[in-house]
Amino acid sequence: WPKDVGILALEVYFPAQYVDQTDLEKYNNVEAGKYTVGLGQTEMGFCSVQEDINSLCLTVVQRLMERTKLPWDSVGRLEVGTETIIDKSKAVKTVLMELFQDSGNTDIEGIDTTNACYGGTASLFNAANWMESSYWDGRYAMVVCGDIAVYPNDNARPTGGAGAVAMLLGPNAPLALEQGLRATHMENVYDFYKPNLASEYPMVDGKLSIQCYLRALDRCYASYCHKIQNQRKRAGINQAFTLDDFQFMIFHTPFCTMVQKSLARLMLNDFLSSSSNTQSSLYKELEAFRGLKLEDTYTNKALEKALVKASLDMFNKKTKASLYLATRNGNTYTSSLYGCLASLLSRHSAQDLAGSRIGAFSYGSGLAASLFSFRVSQDASPGSPLEQLVSSTSDLPKRLDSRKRMSPEEFTEIMNEREQFYHKVNFSPPGDINSLFPGTWYLEQVDQLHRRKYARRP
Ligand code: CAA
Repeated sequence: WPKDVGILALEVYFPAQYVDQTDLEKYNNVEAGKYTVGLGQTEMGFCSVQEDINSLCLTVVQRLMERTKLPWDSVGRLEVGTETIIDKSKAVKTVLMELFQDSGNTDIEGIDTTNACYGGTASLFNAANWMESSYWDGRYAMVVCGDIAVYPNDNARPTGGAGAVAMLLGPNAPLALEQGLRATHMENVYDFYKPNLASEYPMVDGKLSIQCYLRALDRCYASYCHKIQNQRKRAGINQAFTLDDFQFMIFHTPFCTMVQKSLARLMLNDFLSSSSNTQSSLYKELEAFRGLKLEDTYTNKALEKALVKASLDMFNKKTKASLYLATRNGNTYTSSLYGCLASLLSRHSAQDLAGSRIGAFSYGSGLAASLFSFRVSQDASPGSPLEQLVSSTSDLPKRLDSRKRMSPEEFTEIMNEREQFYHKVNFSPPGDINSLFPGTWYLEQVDQLHRRKYARRP
């Protein structure tokens, strides 16, 4: 099979408007700091009625193809991961074919994959599997993931967001998926789900969802360590795998403090599987908790506090940079993890990243979760694929700064409008297309038969 299959290029899209979380704290009459410190969120992006999941994906694919200047017939597989379902049959992928049709390229495998925030990762795995199979025809694969994360006006609303990421996959990639190293945990739970087909909003058991996320993380980490240790044994290396072996670690990010606690949780896993005479000074403060069973610790606040403190340096080095976009744009479900990857690249130089291993934890409620890893290429020289990939993300701060700040009142009005127009027929969405970023695709019209027509802002 081809060598080093992985990410060659990626593109991020987020809406041109946001609400400030400090404004939202005041508007919702909650204590100052609840969203900004407690959840770690400073701003939240949101879409007007003019954007839906199809338009988000059209925009991000178009942007990626234009930036890489690749011919439209060079893509042989296109996978979409999303949980923003506007049609129970017709895939977002079929809408994206509109972009490829003019080139005559209709020979593109792949379709949509759905399970909460996990669909992007399932799509990535599918695309990589295709490249490593006898069906690969030598062309690129593209993975598109995106969501509009909206909640009713309750305590979950500040954990919303919207956006999409498109990734180009090929061999000899600067971010190669590590072969043979995927650890998965799946089970049947009702922590977050969307049974109401007449609404965009999910049913959420917030506290349960946090426990499910942490349990899935524990299980995936144990299984990942086991698999990599087996690989090492086969290579004659007798050394336990620990968090030190991930130079960087990225997570699905429902809100940013959840990620800081998750990295701390991995430290707990290492600590509990270490012996009591381990010399690590990091563990000194944790000794009081030795002997605990992982499954008994999900609600132990004293332990959580000690872990967050003990892992602070590690968090600053390995993970904090990856939260840049999530802090300012919020949760984007399937694309959240890949937005974290883009943030990590945007906040480090190619030299910092060269040769490192990036651990990635993907979580989708319901639940499906995987922990896997990327190997970053050694070559960080100017013009190298790694340097080009890294520099393509450098405009993230400028793009985020150029968004329009909307008041909580305007945000609420737009949320109400989204409710009102959800599944409505025979309308053209209200709003000014000039409020979208140039080059953005938008929903122009929904006809009597629910058929959607899109146009692109010049
Ligand atoms: N200053 C600083 N911190 C404050 C504060 C203040 N004035 N007031 C409260 N806080 C802290 C709280 O102490 C708490 O922190 P700790 O957990 O560290 O104690 C934090 O702010 C949040 O406060 P609450 O726990 O009281 O918040 P809540 O119960 O009202 O809502 C939530 C939080 C449950 C996450 C809710 O937003 C929610 O349901 N969100 C959607 C579900 C979700 O994101 N789940 C995450 C895992 S599932 C997943 O990952 C899939 C997915 O994408 C949805």
